[in-house]
Amino acid sequence: MKYNGKELTMEEKMRLLIGKNNWQSTDCNGKVPTLSVSDGPIGLRKTVVNDKGQSYALPAVAFPATQILANTWDLSLAYAVGASIADECIEADIDILLGPGCNIKRSPMCGRNFEYYSEDPYVSGTFAREFIKGVQSKGVGTSLKHYCANNLEFGRVYTSSEVDERTLTEIYLESFRIACEADPATVMCGYNLVNGQRMSEHKKLYRILREDFWREDGVIISDWGAVHDRTRSLKAGLDIEMPYSEIGYENLKAGYESGRITEEDIDKSVERILKLAQKYGERKERNVTTTKEDRRRLAQRVAEEGIVLLKNNGVLPLADRGKIMISGNDLYAYYSGAGSSRVVTENEPQTLLQCLRSVLPNATIDGYTVTAYSDSEYLPMFEMGYENDVAIVVCGDYETEGDDRYSMRLPIKDERLILETAKRNANTVVVLRYGAAVDVSSWIDKVAAVIFAGYGGERGNEALANILSGKVNPSGRLTETFANTYEDYPVAHTYLDHAINAYTEGLFMGYRYFDNVPANVRFPFGYGLSYSQFQYSDLVVNRQNDTYEVRFRVSNVSTIDGVDVAQVYIHEVQPRVLRPIKELKGFERVVLKAGESKEVCVKLSHRAFAYYSVAEDCWKVTSGKFEIYIAQNANDIRLQTCIEVSE
Ligand code: GLC
Repeated sequence: MKYNGKELTMEEKMRLLIGKNNWQSTDCNGKVPTLSVSDGPIGLRKTVVNDKGQSYALPAVAFPATQILANTWDLSLAYAVGASIADECIEADIDILLGPGCNIKRSPMCGRNFEYYSEDPYVSGTFAREFIKGVQSKGVGTSLKHYCANNLEFGRVYTSSEVDERTLTEIYLESFRIACEADPATVMCGYNLVNGQRMSEHKKLYRILREDFWREDGVIISDWGAVHDRTRSLKAGLDIEMPYSEIGYENLKAGYESGRITEEDIDKSVERILKLAQKYGERKERNVTTTKEDRRRLAQRVAEEGIVLLKNNGVLPLADRGKIMISGNDLYAYYSGAGSSRVVTENEPQTLLQCLRSVLPNATIDGYTVTAYSDSEYLPMFEMGYENDVAIVVCGDYETEGDDRYSMRLPIKDERLILETAKRNANTVVVLRYGAAVDVSSWIDKVAAVIFAGYGGERGNEALANILSGKVNPSGRLTETFANTYEDYPVAHTYLDHAINAYTEGLFMGYRYFDNVPANVRFPFGYGLSYSQFQYSDLVVNRQNDTYEVRFRVSNVSTIDGVDVAQVYIHEVQPRVLRPIKELKGFERVVLKAGESKEVCVKLSHRAFAYYSVAEDCWKVTSGKFEIYIAQNANDIRLQTCIEVSE
C-alpha cells in the first residue's frame, strides 16, 4: 500500500488504524498527512496541553446549542453555522470537526439533548445534512455522530438499545440516512450497543450505513474509548480507533499474527484512511471568509430565531418604561451545556441585565442574582416584586454529556422563586435556560409569559433582550414535545437497566406517540408563539411525475412583520400496517411583512409516503388515500386535503 509513491510498512499501516494521540491520526513516519480533529457541533473546542501538562480548550465563538439551531427551522442557518465553525477550524489547523450529532431526542432526560436536533428524524437529518454541507464547503471534514441509537447518557458504554428493525430504520437510522446525503467525511460510532452488539463492532449496521446511506470507502471512527477489541472492530469495519491506545495496537498486532485478521482486512481500512488524508489532510484550498465578529453576529441571529415564546398574555414585548426586576440563578449566561461540546469563549458573555438595559434605556432595570436561595436572601427580594412593573425570573441549569437529568421539573428553589414572585407581581415573565423539555405544570398558570431560551451561545442574552423588548419578533418553534410531566412520555414506562434499554414504544415516540394522547401535551412539537398572527389558505396538491407539489398560502394578518413555520405532515387513511397518525415530511419558514401573504410550495417525493417493510426488507408505498396536513404545530392543523398515491 502506497501514499504518493511511498510504500507503507505493515507497522505503519496498523498504526494508521489507531489514533496517534487524543486528537490526531498518525503520519506514518512522515509519509501520510496527519489528520487533526476537534469537537464540536456548537463551536470549535480545540484542546491543547501547556508546559505543565495541563490540557485546556482554546477560546472560540460559542454558537447556540444545537437545540436552539433546530428551533429556528431555518436550514440555511445550519449551513451558515457549519461554514463559520469551519473557518475557526481552518484558523486552528483542524481538518475534521467532530460533529454534528444527529441522535433522536427519545427521552427528555437525556443529558445531551442540547447537542441534538429533534425527536423527529426528518428535522434531525435535514439539519445535520445542511450543517455537514456548510462545514465541508470550506474543505473541512465532519464526523456525523453517534451512530446509532445513542439516546441516553445513563450507562452509555454498556447498555444495549433494544430496538425493533422497523423502528430502528424509520426513526433512529433515518436521521443518519438523510444526513449522509451530504456525504460526511467520517461517521463516529457511539459507545452503546444496539440489539446486543457493540456499535464499535456492529458489522450489520456498518454494512447498512455504507451500502444504503453512504459509500463503501466512508471512514468510520470510534467514539473516544468506545473500542473494546480492536481486532473484532476492524473485522466489523471500524477504521480508526480513537484516541491513541497501545493496548489497541497490541491487540491488532496479535490479531494479525494469529491470522484472525489478514493483510486484506487491514488494507481495506488503510485505503479508506489514505483517501480521507488526501482529501482533508493536504489542506487544499481552505479559505477563511468570515471574521470573529461575523460569527458572533451569526450566533446572535441563530439565538434570535431559535428562542421560543411559549406563553404571553400580552405582557411582551416589554415597554421601554417603568421598573423591571430580573432575578434568578442565571444573570450570567448559560450559553452552553457541559461536556465535549462546550466552547470556551474569548470574553465573558454579556448578562441579560446589561443587554436589557441597552435595549430599554428609559426603563429602570435592576438585577438580583439569587445563589444561596436562603430565606434571608429571598424574602427581601420578593418584597421588591410589589414595586416593579415587570418581574423577570431567569432559571437555568447545566445539562451535560455523561449524565442524564434527574427530573424534568425545575429545582424546587426555582419553582419557589417563580411562585413567590408571581404572588407579588402579575407581570411575571419566566426565562428557561435548559437543554431540553421542562415540566412547567406547577407554575405556568400563575405567570404572564414564558420564554424557552435554552443554551443561547455567547450572544444569547443580546438575542433574548431583543425578543423581550420587541426589537425581534420571536419565531422559534419547538422540535421536541413538551409533555405535562415526565410520566406522560412513553419512555418513562419502558424497561431500563444497566444492560438493556428497551425501546418498546417502537415508532410511537414524540408526536408520533402524543397524537394518540394529546391531553398529555403541554407544548406540542412545532409550537411557538409570535408577536404576529398568521392565517393559512388555498391548499392544492399537484403531482408532477414522482413528486407531489404541495402549495398553500400563508398570510400575516397582524400589524407586525414576522415569521411563521409551516409544517407538512402525511397521514395514511387506511394503512395495512401499523403507522403513526401523521409524520412530518416537509416544512417551510415563511418571512412575512405585516399584512403580507405568500404562496408556499413544499415538494414531497414518492418516498415521503413510504413505510419500511420488514417483510420485504425495503421502503414501500401502498396505493391508497393519504391526507396532507398543513400545520402550525403538531396539535394545530390549519389546512388538509386528501390525495390518491399509487405504490
Ligand atoms: C466524547 C463524545 C464525542 C466527542 C468525543 C471527543 O466522549 O461522546 O461526542 O466528539 O468524545 O471529545
